[in-house]
Amino acid sequence: MPHKTTEYQAFSHQILTWYQENPRELPWRGTHDPYKIWLSEIILQQTRVAQGLPYYYAFVETYPTVKDLALAPEEEVLRLWQGLGYYSRARNLHACAKSIWFDMDGVFPKTYDELLKLKGVGSYTAAAIASFAYGEVKAVVDGNVFRVLSRYFGIETDIASSKAKKEFEALANQVIPKDQPGEFNQAMMDFGARLCTPKSPGCETCPLKSSCFALLYNMVADLPLKINKVKIKERHFHYYVIKCGEKWVWKKRTSGDIWEGLFDFPQEESTNDIKKRTIEIPSSSKEQIHPFPKKYRHILSHQRLNAVFSEVEIEKENLVELEAWCENEGFMLVAEDKIEYLAKPKLIVNFLNDQGI
Ligand code: ADE
Repeated sequence: MPHKTTEYQAFSHQILTWYQENPRELPWRGTHDPYKIWLSEIILQQTRVAQGLPYYYAFVETYPTVKDLALAPEEEVLRLWQGLGYYSRARNLHACAKSIWFDMDGVFPKTYDELLKLKGVGSYTAAAIASFAYGEVKAVVDGNVFRVLSRYFGIETDIASSKAKKEFEALANQVIPKDQPGEFNQAMMDFGARLCTPKSPGCETCPLKSSCFALLYNMVADLPLKINKVKIKERHFHYYVIKCGEKWVWKKRTSGDIWEGLFDFPQEESTNDIKKRTIEIPSSSKEQIHPFPKKYRHILSHQRLNAVFSEVEIEKENLVELEAWCENEGFMLVAEDKIEYLAKPKLIVNFLNDQGI
């Protein structure tokens, strides 16, 4: 049954009224600077606000303008991103800053359609920037918006299905008020994050409780509908921490796998935790390889990683041979006091912390 314009207006009015009384104080609110808004939105993709906040402050302080970011070395940007995960965001952020600075005269694109052309900017981020910075009437649609709309309007479409995004975007773009698109988008984000939460939502105090479909039909826990089809891959990494005096062997990860551009160690991988030795480490005997007893586990969106580490001590007199091997294999020797400057995956940082590094 088509919902009437007045129903949409009543909905958005109540969401906005709630927001005026319950806004989250966030540093990117109240600015119309597209650079800062873009930065905050990229950081907040797949990241909770509390986790993203310190990164936002660090990026704004280190790179106050798009020019500063564009002119920074990629490794420095990745290092500042360390710990936030989904590193393609940082690489895209940097590539995008360069393209704005060098190809667009440093001027940020000003419309939703133009913003969408930027690397790493999807419909959510483009709608957020367009509405917050320029007042364009474009609704953001993310997990929060799926939840609020599906509960309130009783939409039972599987939100993991391909048609869901289009359907919810169409509805959100009808509901959004033309005179306050940015405010409304922020209101939906906060309403979903603080009141209409996935578990234990605050239905008793909700201003929409008398007209919410899910509440009326006792379906709050069932909506939004999500049929999970994602297959999780289990991976087993066997790392070699190869040291020669103060120098450690590091490997920069290449494209086509997780953690592109970050640094870890020479590694073997297997489908279970039984390892088959394929690496030939020069000047080392079996006796020089010492496994660390601790096992590490790290969860990514589509992968579960299991890692063990072995230490390999190479005599200093074999440094030249080790250097030649590293050159040949594409590894790098890094002095221990320089390790902190490498951008590393969280799993490796956890291991190093256990070693007191
Ligand atoms: N999540 C994504 N973008 C956000 C924003 N601008 N404010 C709060 N949470 C968000």
